[in-house]
Amino acid sequence: MTDLHQELILILDFGSQYTQLIARRVREQGVYSEIKPFNFPLERIKALAPKGIILSGGPASVYQLDAPLLGKEIFDLNIPILGICYGLQLISHLLGGKVTKADHREYGHAMLEISTAHLLLENIAHQSKVWMSHGDRVEQLPDGFAVLAQTPNAVLAQTPNSPYAIIKHSTKQIYGLQFHPEVAHTDQGERFIQNFIYNIAACHGLWTPQSFIEESVQHIRQQVGSEKVICALSGGVDSSVAAALVNEAIGSQLTCVFVNNGLLRYKEAEQVCYIFEKQAKFNFRYVDASQKFLARLENVVDPEQKRKIIGDEFIQTFEAVAHEIGEVKFLVQGTLYPDVIESVSTKGPSAVIKSHHNVGGLPEKMHLKLIEPLRELFKDEVRQVGRELGLSDQLISRHPFPGPGLAVRILGAITPERIAIVQQADHIFISELHKTGWYHKVWQAFAVLLPVQTVGVMGDERTYESVIALRAVTSEDAMTADWAKIDPEVLGGVANRIINEVRGVNRVVYDISSKPPGTIEWE
Ligand code: XMP
Repeated sequence: MTDLHQELILILDFGSQYTQLIARRVREQGVYSEIKPFNFPLERIKALAPKGIILSGGPASVYQLDAPLLGKEIFDLNIPILGICYGLQLISHLLGGKVTKADHREYGHAMLEISTAHLLLENIAHQSKVWMSHGDRVEQLPDGFAVLAQTPNAVLAQTPNSPYAIIKHSTKQIYGLQFHPEVAHTDQGERFIQNFIYNIAACHGLWTPQSFIEESVQHIRQQVGSEKVICALSGGVDSSVAAALVNEAIGSQLTCVFVNNGLLRYKEAEQVCYIFEKQAKFNFRYVDASQKFLARLENVVDPEQKRKIIGDEFIQTFEAVAHEIGEVKFLVQGTLYPDVIESVSTKGPSAVIKSHHNVGGLPEKMHLKLIEPLRELFKDEVRQVGRELGLSDQLISRHPFPGPGLAVRILGAITPERIAIVQQADHIFISELHKTGWYHKVWQAFAVLLPVQTVGVMGDERTYESVIALRAVTSEDAMTADWAKIDPEVLGGVANRIINEVRGVNRVVYDISSKPPGTIEWE
């Protein structure tokens, strides 16, 4: 079997908000990529033996005193290097060129004009729109470099800004792009990346969902031997795909435990049981612990308190089931690559703002070793692997759902009546988004029950009832998010249905805050 990881594109991170996007674009071309911080030691780079290295963008200026820099030895490794934005400026700076602050910050679209044909530019139009976002510019190229393209007529900028929009070394495999090929605003951005990977770094494209599954299955079998494995299945994409992968590898040695905490979406418990028990025939345990969870949450209104109680109760429930199963050695966890990247830029604010409840605490407490089969994957890759494993599209393309479930979408006290209200409202919202084609255009959408009542009038009668807030966001990774510009008619239709069909609600509002400063969830 071929080793998938023998073809690696290493991305050194200088703090760009787009670093993860670069890694994803490389993977989309069928080549494995990893992100490491800019100061990752040279010896370790050599040990990884990447086929190519990409230097990311970043917010610093190369001439700044504390700028993140690189040792020049990297240019003697004989590994192809592509610098993007700050990466290009860094190459210029380190090899004797001159980088200064530009008169005008170049931000937005610019028209790229290719002046010299090259393998890096194969199948790219002579003129194309690219996305610029830089305040510094290369004033003078280092010796031995030539220009392949420039942006003489920046569309949005007042002056020609990047005479050195694409540069290359005359003898070594060192390249730089002043613009960002990884963002969707750059026309044909994927071609620049594809050309670097295949034409320059000579990769073949080993990274496919099928080969990932094959390799993971072998690895899991080796790791587990004949031991028993347990998985906390939430019905969400990550834990479902992780379970399916482990199931593929070791079948009945795995037991999937699905705990109903009483805070699931409309008919979710039935659906998850149907999919895993009846349809996929996993070794599956359903535990209805809703009464216990809800009893402990009675009159609790503080969000962090809710999270702590749910986390703790979950561990207790899970431990009890594990005890019944017998000697269990491993726990499957759906950790993804963005959670483990050692990078200077990717840890967004949300990790510390809310104590996210996963299966935190379980492995140490129960002396379990972890199996994290999705540790190397981005979310979109997890979905592809899930599809390849035969999980239904309905499950795979589901919006993310927080571990504490509806507890953090019911602001104030949690009661059975209030759970029913938010479940129904959410169900109506999601059904309408499916019907109108909006479900797949947003990252996440849901209903929130507010702890206030407002006055309304229904059929000549005064009402004094609850308010539902609808939240829908677009996002790449949940670190930042924008509120979704859903058609007003669609929102109006949803509001109408909720007010007419959900008893106890007389008003619906739409949340138009972005993250930051808001967060996606309300609690
Ligand atoms: P926030 O609200 O922090 O959410 O902007 C970012 C993403 O994380 C989800 N989320 C959680 N997931 N446990 C989880 O497993 C939690 O406590 C939790 N809180 C928020 C949220 O749904 C969004 O996708």
